[in-house]
Amino acid sequence: MLPVEIKKDIFWVGSVDWNLRDFHGYSLARRGTTYNAYLVKDEKIALFDLVPANHVDELLRCLKATIDPEQIDYLIVNHVEPDHSGALPKIMDIVKPEKVFCSPIAKQALISHYHREDWPYEVVATGDSISLGKRTVTFLETKMLHWPDSMFSFIPEDKLLISSDAFGQNLASSERFDDQVDKSLLFDLAASYYANIILPFSPLVQKLLAKVGEVGWDIDMIAPDHGLIWRTQLPEILAKYGEWSAQKPQRKAVVFYDTMWKSTERMARAIADGMMAEGVSVQVFSLKTAHHSDVMPFIMDAQAVVAGSPTHNNGMLPLLADMLTYMKGLKPQGKIGAAFGSYGWSGEAPKQISEFLQSAKVEIVADPLRLKNVPTDQDLAACQEFGSKIGREVIARVPE
Ligand code: FEO
Repeated sequence: MLPVEIKKDIFWVGSVDWNLRDFHGYSLARRGTTYNAYLVKDEKIALFDLVPANHVDELLRCLKATIDPEQIDYLIVNHVEPDHSGALPKIMDIVKPEKVFCSPIAKQALISHYHREDWPYEVVATGDSISLGKRTVTFLETKMLHWPDSMFSFIPEDKLLISSDAFGQNLASSERFDDQVDKSLLFDLAASYYANIILPFSPLVQKLLAKVGEVGWDIDMIAPDHGLIWRTQLPEILAKYGEWSAQKPQRKAVVFYDTMWKSTERMARAIADGMMAEGVSVQVFSLKTAHHSDVMPFIMDAQAVVAGSPTHNNGMLPLLADMLTYMKGLKPQGKIGAAFGSYGWSGEAPKQISEFLQSAKVEIVADPLRLKNVPTDQDLAACQEFGSKIGREVIARVPE
């Protein structure tokens, strides 16, 4: 991509990854992503964030369309994860910057990633500012959002917040701004990104939003390291981050399952019917067709999580174990749930799933439901009643 001027003398200079489909277990479906870097031309020329090692040539091509890279004075590393720092060794060789600004933890992380103690690190902490000439850059450490090294850079003269991974979306596109694509697509992608990357750090997001309010930064543009830049829908995305991080459940439930001979699937449908009959909005996912990262955005604001698997080799099917492990790692809060599944002879899976849900801090509101081989109409009525029981719990806990 060619550079795009996002403010006077400030350029997007990243790389679009049209082909990325799996980002350490997060499926990017057919959308890819971008790695956003930002170049500020002032008396000092500063480059904020980079791209993965295999995109360094794209970054250089983009940079060269607006500047000779050797003119860059400062590198600012807001985040060490290799999708933003992988290009650093080559960029350091070419640019030979005067200083590399980063948080204290980032300095250690850069050394343990690239084994270069000789780079001209300049450690900055929350509240520190540097001058670029007409502009200043103020730093805010955002530890564990989402790595310990993460930080934000704010340029008050331009009301520009460079927000690292926060406020990102995974979308490969020729557009660079939030008002250039379909709004519902954009917010769906932002929600998916939040559910799959930011969710475990929600208490910190709440604190961060309060902190940003406290320091009184006047922001009219948020430039994340992935996806589109927010210049028009700032209030909406900030409100969404407030809502998602509050993890206030809605009258919603998610049912996910795997099935062998469709008995567990029939149970899933009857359970969903029971919850719907109580007035709960339900999403049902077969894990044969839904990837775990496609399920997470629905779990994010659901009150109930109901999981099912037939018993296979004395346990649950592997896709269930995958989904449960992924969900547990993302630490959704305040959920209720239950487990179900069919069986042929031993029937351990529902109990195992229920125990796993409990270990993920899901409050179990019904004993595991299991039934032998193929459900009868009476069995399906029992599944529906099982769903109704969970549905009543949802309605009781979530005010209208
Ligand atoms: Fe986009 Fe945490 O890296």
